[in-house]
Amino acid sequence: MQTTIMLTRPDDWHLHLRDGKQMRNVLPDTARQFSRAIIMPNLRPPIVTVEMAAAYRARILAALPVSLQGQFEPLMTLYLTDDTPPAEIKRAKESGIVHAVKLYPAGATTHSDAGVTDIARCFSALDRMEQLGIPLLVHGEVTDSMVDVFDREKVFIERVLQPLTQRFPGLRIVFEHITTRDAVEFVRAASENIAATVTVHHLLLNRNALFSGGIRPHHYCLPVLKRETHRQALIESATSGHSRFFLGTDSAPHPVSGKESACGCAGIYTAHAAIELYAEVFEQAGALDKLEAFASFHGADFYHLPRNIDRITLVKESWSVPERLTFGDEFLIPLRAGERVCWKKLT
Ligand code: DOR
Ligand code: ZN
Repeated sequence: MQTTIMLTRPDDWHLHLRDGKQMRNVLPDTARQFSRAIIMPNLRPPIVTVEMAAAYRARILAALPVSLQGQFEPLMTLYLTDDTPPAEIKRAKESGIVHAVKLYPAGATTHSDAGVTDIARCFSALDRMEQLGIPLLVHGEVTDSMVDVFDREKVFIERVLQPLTQRFPGLRIVFEHITTRDAVEFVRAASENIAATVTVHHLLLNRNALFSGGIRPHHYCLPVLKRETHRQALIESATSGHSRFFLGTDSAPHPVSGKESACGCAGIYTAHAAIELYAEVFEQAGALDKLEAFASFHGADFYHLPRNIDRITLVKESWSVPERLTFGDEFLIPLRAGERVCWKKLT
C-alpha cells in the first residue's frame, strides 16, 4: 500500500476567497497547499474592471500571513456583464494580472445578479477575447425556471455552449465545475480550446448526500450534486490522464447562518483539506499515479503558465476535520466536519 505521495506543488484553478476578515480566515488554507489560484470575481460589487481586480489582488497579497508571503500568487479574473467593453478585455490582457473572464448567467448562483442576461450581448467582448487568447470561464447552467434543476448543465451545453464554440472556434473556454456525464463527453469531443475543472465535492458525493437522514445544507452547492452515474463519469475524466480536465476546488465559504437557513446559500468549503481529499478520490480509483498531472500540470499548461517547480508531500495519516472554522465574525462548516481525512499534507 502506498503511504507517501510526492507531487509538484498543485494550483487551484477555481476558488472563492471572498474579502476582508473572511478572506483572511480562509486564504491560509489554500496558500499552504497551492502555489496559485484562479480567484472568482463574484464579490459585491463584482470585479468588473482591471482596476478593481488589481485592488482585490493587492488585498489578497496583504492578507497572506507572513509565513506564506511570496509563496502564493492570486490569478485574477473579471466578471463578465452585458456591458463589458472590448477595451476592458484589452486592458485585462495588457495588465498581466488578469488571466480570465468569468461568465455567470444572471441569476444562476451566488452574486450572479449582475451576470449575463443574454450571451449575444457579449459577442463583441468575446470576439476580443478570442483574438487575444483570454480564456472564458463558464458557469454552465441555464436559469430557465422551466428546466429541471438537475438538467440545467445539460441544457446549457445544448443551448449556449455548443453554439458558442461554433461561433467562436478560437475562444479558449474552461467549463467550470462540471457535474454530468454530458459535460465530460462534450469536453472530450471538443477542440483543444475547451477544458474543464472538476471539484473534489462533485468527485466525492452524489445527490443522495443532500438528503441522508434529513436535509443537508452543507452539501448544497451549484451546480447541484448529481446522480451516481454522473459522479462515476467525473471520476473517470479526472483520473484518465486526459490533459483537458484539471483541478478546481470551487471552495465557496459561507457563514453557518447563510447555510442553515430557510433559503440556504450554495457553496461547499473544501480548501481546508483540498489536496488530501483529491488524493482520497484518486486512491479509491486506483489512480494515484494520475493525481500529479491533474493537480499540477494540466491547468498550468492550459493557461499557458509555467508549471510549478517545488514539491509537496502527502502521507497516509488520518486526521480529524474541525467541527467548525472561524469565518469573519461567524463560523463556517467545512466539508467532513468532525470526520476523518486519511491523507495529510506535510508542512
Ligand atoms: O456552490 C457555489 N457557490 N456555486 C457557485 O457557482 C458560486 C459559489 C459561491 O460563490 O458561493
Ligand atoms: Zn465557483
